[in-house]
Amino acid sequence: MPNLNIVILAAGKGTRMHSDLPKVLHEVGGQSILGHVLACAKALKPSKIIVVYGYGGEAVKAQFIGENIVWVNQAEQLGTGHAMQQALPHLESNASTLILLGDVPLVASSDCQKLIDVAANQLAILSFNKTDPTGYGRIVRDSKGQVNAIVEHKDASEQQRKITEVNTGMMAMPNSKLVQWLGQLTNNNAQGEYYLTDIVALAVQQGVAVVAEITGDEWSVTGINAKTDLAQIERIYQLRYAQRLLQLGVTLKDPARIDVRGELACGRDVQIDVNCLFEGKVHLGDKVKIAPNCVIKNASIAAGTQIAAFSHIDDTQIGQNARIGPFARLRPGTTLADDTHVGNFVELKNAQVDSASKINHLSYVGDATVGKHVNVGAGTITCNYDGANKFRTVIEDDVFVGSDTQLVAPVTLGKGATIAAGSTITRDAPAGQLTFCRAKDQKSIAAWKRPVKVKK
Ligand code: UD1
Ligand code: CA
Repeated sequence: MPNLNIVILAAGKGTRMHSDLPKVLHEVGGQSILGHVLACAKALKPSKIIVVYGYGGEAVKAQFIGENIVWVNQAEQLGTGHAMQQALPHLESNASTLILLGDVPLVASSDCQKLIDVAANQLAILSFNKTDPTGYGRIVRDSKGQVNAIVEHKDASEQQRKITEVNTGMMAMPNSKLVQWLGQLTNNNAQGEYYLTDIVALAVQQGVAVVAEITGDEWSVTGINAKTDLAQIERIYQLRYAQRLLQLGVTLKDPARIDVRGELACGRDVQIDVNCLFEGKVHLGDKVKIAPNCVIKNASIAAGTQIAAFSHIDDTQIGQNARIGPFARLRPGTTLADDTHVGNFVELKNAQVDSASKINHLSYVGDATVGKHVNVGAGTITCNYDGANKFRTVIEDDVFVGSDTQLVAPVTLGKGATIAAGSTITRDAPAGQLTFCRAKDQKSIAAWKRPVKVKK
């Protein structure tokens, strides 16, 4: 096989998106549209990837810093043929080129491979039969069914407009031929543009075979032009992701009500209830159960752990057989060891909690190290911030913290310490002892009468 070059055309303006963000930077499944096309391109192991950019160029490049991409600026968008001409100086001799469109996020590497496989000495194009072909370039075939030309919608005759086989825009060919053809393009057409698609007629004139691979998957060739397209493609992407999870054995209560904006890796017998959102990289171990309405981002949740409804988990590692939620909020830097329990209305931030410890109700534990078998009572707050700096709270193994306690950091509760409910702890509490700090004088007023409403 000759070397493979891939050119991604992405200079279009995307006017119909009505957005300041360049079109190809809008996201599908948490990844930019161009990011999806690049991922497909990389999977084909080319020797070179060239992106033709234009509108919003610097912002586009900035998203892919450090990647092995040749960026080519097309300052004026004079058509797809003109865009390819800008890439010409970067094409390798003795290679083939695959041309992809930067606004087709669901492009399938299997379709690309089919084109590459036959492009060593002929022109291969990817076509699709569209019920409403309006706007697309039509594939014109002769009486024997051989491809003769691609005619753009605006240049097509009445008769040609009836053709439903359309050009997807993806094609592959030997570079030796491509160089020649690009040099022969003119802009003598309805749009005054240099059409890449004119290379088909040039190939036919020169006796170079043209093959059209017909794809049956419309979504894999659908380009994004407006937010309606983006929304539609997002749903297709999500449904396909859900189908893959189901095929791998994940139980989804409703494959139409899960969103993955990144990568979700699951062990065996994982169950995910409705309306859950996974972002970034998430790993769920064997038998993990996720109840409805959870948002989980960049997290790893080990085997047997259950996440109850409405929990929000971000940048957190959770061990085995833990019980989290409902309504738990786990913020970045949190780690929970095996058998931990975190209950409702509990917020943890940068807290490392060791095994079998429980923080079950209405607490804030931030910048804290919590040992094994600790019980943090309802309403406990670590006062970690003095308005300028953050300080750590250390709670050693087997500590019992009574309800409604404030732990003013920096502070350490020694191993096995008990803190009485309602305490405000500002100094270290010794191991094994009961420490309390609360108002001493509990009084009762026997003759107390509740106030009554004054009539006006
Ligand atoms: C093009 C094809 C048409 C095909 C359709 C599929 C041509 C002449 N026509 O139509 O046969 O059915 O795609 O969607 O090729 N671009 C540049 N620079 C330019 C112009 C376009 O980089 O000067 C890029 C765009 O960013 C886009 C792609 O090329 O990614 C296609 O351009 P677009 O204007 O959407 O396609 P059409 O010309 O309508
Ligand atoms: Ca156009």
